[in-house]
Amino acid sequence: MSDQAKRHGEAAISPFWDRAIPAFWLAFCAILIVNLIGNFVFHGYILPEEAEHGAHEAKFGYPIEVVEEAGGAAAGPAARVSAVSMIADATAAAGTEVFRKCAACHTVEAGGANKTGPNLHNIVGDVIGDRNGFKTTDSLKAIAGGKWDYATLEDYLEDPKRLAPKGSMSFAGLKKPEDRAAVIKFLMGATENPPPLPAAQ
Ligand code: HEC
Repeated sequence: MSDQAKRHGEAAISPFWDRAIPAFWLAFCAILIVNLIGNFVFHGYILPEEAEHGAHEAKFGYPIEVVEEAGGAAAGPAARVSAVSMIADATAAAGTEVFRKCAACHTVEAGGANKTGPNLHNIVGDVIGDRNGFKTTDSLKAIAGGKWDYATLEDYLEDPKRLAPKGSMSFAGLKKPEDRAAVIKFLMGATENPPPLPAAQ
């Protein structure tokens, strides 16, 4: 081969490999990544901690949503546990304990000051809002019925934002029915003439 031909040959081969090698790597990596994603999405994988705990069902990478309602109820409002029927048996002492969560924002005694939230004296059965000059939100005033009957109060205390989405009570709510029953018993004690409890079914 002449020198010129050699030079020509090198010039032809070298750029080929310069491109081919990275191209192979790229293709290889792409296949690897697609394969990984595919495994993740379409086949179950077991998280290490689940494997340890003996849970053998595989989890799926794409979302198979198990509907969980905010507020803990399993399947919508129909399934929520009302605490109203538990109020009769609740003790005011337990309610005093629960009310410690409310006391940062509320007083209950007659003539007590408004804090972040309004004074709650005589709240049970009373009209919603208009308490002691407190600036009640429109969202709270719009609650159907307009009164704190037991069912409404109990519902509100589980999740204040459910009944009053734009209400100003920044409180997560009492998730345990027994806590709601107890605090309502306590509020009855701070109400001069609480309406009779609904008869048990
Ligand atoms: C972080 C402060 C805060 C905490 C804690 C809190 N509240 Fe409230 N609460 C408010 C505010 C603010 C409002 C006024 C809501 C509105 O106008 O939308 C309110 C309103 C209320 C109302 C309606 C009063 C009315 O005007 O008719 C009731 C009943 C109530 N709270 C009970 C409770 C109970 C019981 C607890 C404890 C389990 C509690 N709150 C915890 C701030 C709080």
